[in-house]
Amino acid sequence: MCGIFGYTGGSQAAAIVLEGLRKLEYRGYDSFGIAARGESIQVGKKQGRIPEEGFDIKNLAGTAAIGHTRWATHGIPDDKNAHPHRDCTGKIAVVHNGIIENYALLKRGLVDRGHRFSSDTDTEIIAHLLEEVYKGDLLAAVQAVLPLIDGSYAILVLAEADPRIVAARSRSPLVVGIGDEAMFAASDMTPILEYTRRMIVLEDGDVACLTPAAVEIYQKGSRVRRNEEIVRWSSEDVRKGGFRHFMLKEIFDQPAVFSDAVRALRKEELPGIIREAGMVTIVACGTSYHAALIFKYLLEEQCRVAARVELASEFRYFPPPLEGLVIGISQSGETADTLMALELARLRGCPTLAIVNVVGSSLTRIADASLLMHAGPEISVAATKSFIAELAVFFHLVDIMKQGAWAHHLDSAHRAIEEALLLDLGPAVACCSQAKDIFFVGRGAFYPVALEGALKMKEISYIHAEGYAAGEIKHGPFALLSPETPVVAVCAPGETYGVMASNIREMKARGTPLILLGEKDDRDLQEIADVFIPLPSADTVSGLLSASVILQLLAYHTADALGKDIDRPRNLAKSVTVE
Ligand code: M6R
Repeated sequence: MCGIFGYTGGSQAAAIVLEGLRKLEYRGYDSFGIAARGESIQVGKKQGRIPEEGFDIKNLAGTAAIGHTRWATHGIPDDKNAHPHRDCTGKIAVVHNGIIENYALLKRGLVDRGHRFSSDTDTEIIAHLLEEVYKGDLLAAVQAVLPLIDGSYAILVLAEADPRIVAARSRSPLVVGIGDEAMFAASDMTPILEYTRRMIVLEDGDVACLTPAAVEIYQKGSRVRRNEEIVRWSSEDVRKGGFRHFMLKEIFDQPAVFSDAVRALRKEELPGIIREAGMVTIVACGTSYHAALIFKYLLEEQCRVAARVELASEFRYFPPPLEGLVIGISQSGETADTLMALELARLRGCPTLAIVNVVGSSLTRIADASLLMHAGPEISVAATKSFIAELAVFFHLVDIMKQGAWAHHLDSAHRAIEEALLLDLGPAVACCSQAKDIFFVGRGAFYPVALEGALKMKEISYIHAEGYAAGEIKHGPFALLSPETPVVAVCAPGETYGVMASNIREMKARGTPLILLGEKDDRDLQEIADVFIPLPSADTVSGLLSASVILQLLAYHTADALGKDIDRPRNLAKSVTVE
């Protein structure tokens, strides 16, 4: 949610910050804005997305600037609520990612003391609180104000007469990039990679002062040292590389992502707690939750380890009696619900493991141990390659627990993804793009694949889609089946194939168009299907991967056929850092 980016160096800062904000837009795109410090603080901000051209930064002169892309929480998305926000004098500017929970109380006090507000945001109170204590030392002012604030924040602050950018974080991510005579601070590494791979991930409670030559970090008022990391990601990883959308690029990255993840995991020291776990509870949200459901099937079926999966947002408030290992899975490692769920498990005394994509992310700081999924930066709001990388982690863990019995799957499964990428989905896309409602069904480990297929479809095409365990359709949703309501069914061979085939026939009898994914030589399915999509390989590992990729592509091409804004679906943002 929201992206912030700051630069101080030898160049005109507003142009650098504007380019950086484009790379952060996937975190929120309701509005954007920049404050630059020249002789005074100048601000430019606007509702909507950053236009390719036409946003004038001529007035934003200066070599230090801070910027923001917004996912609205307090106040509608309009020009006045766009960040940066200033104090009454206009000499202090703030950008903020997070939520200030006690803002209403603080605002009442500020209004009583004569402050004039120009927005409905929670953020603006920070500028006014700073105004009250700022006596020429911005660091001291920020350190005085932060204890008054409850909630989550990553902030960047500029003041007219101060040579620094001051940055601070609590429960919202913030990374500092160390350049050549330039310093950067951002919500994540993506806008910084263009300039440097030297990064410091700030910790909760850190306050950092940035000048072009140095960064100083303070914790509870005292200077502290933080380790610098040289990240593996490159600026190429955050470009579209010739594809029309990041989502398509990321889908096509998946054979390499899978192989790279497996290779990297084989080198990684795996935390012993996995081997010792008697019972596993997994908490996650969205796509990561669906991946976790697949992990549960694998753990129980293949490894005979009892596992349960909980939606992190529910678990946090209604935790079941806990025993054994608790695993948090999150691409970003910053999802508020998952962070809070894992923190709760830790407080209850459970050993915890984080499976994340982003090095140094908040979830890794809570957990006793961490595993990286090695997917590379994922820019598209719709998660794709992180899902496949999550599966790579799970398959790898299963392989370890089965003492190498899945090694051949791990070595060859990328081919199933490659073949899935080559399939012609035209007839299926034609069928889906005319529909108002679509059901996605599967059984066993393919049920979460269906859930994920439905999530992808609704998220980017805005077609109402529901994922169901195939056997459940007759317990209610059957009432909705009609010739206008296609069903996409994953019919992998295995124990449930027979009942799945019966379920499909029952649907066919209601005139429902059937898009069936099945083994390529399955004549029965081919006969009954309106559209048949062959699974390149139907063993569990390859079948799960290829079916997932096919449903990602089905959603992508359907959304594209309908002219939707695929990388930036309405109302969404990549990292959900609020509850
Ligand atoms: O970063 P996380 O894996 O914790 O994110 C969880 C969900 O917000 C995320 O998977 C979301 O559902 C995706 N946009 C789905 O494509």
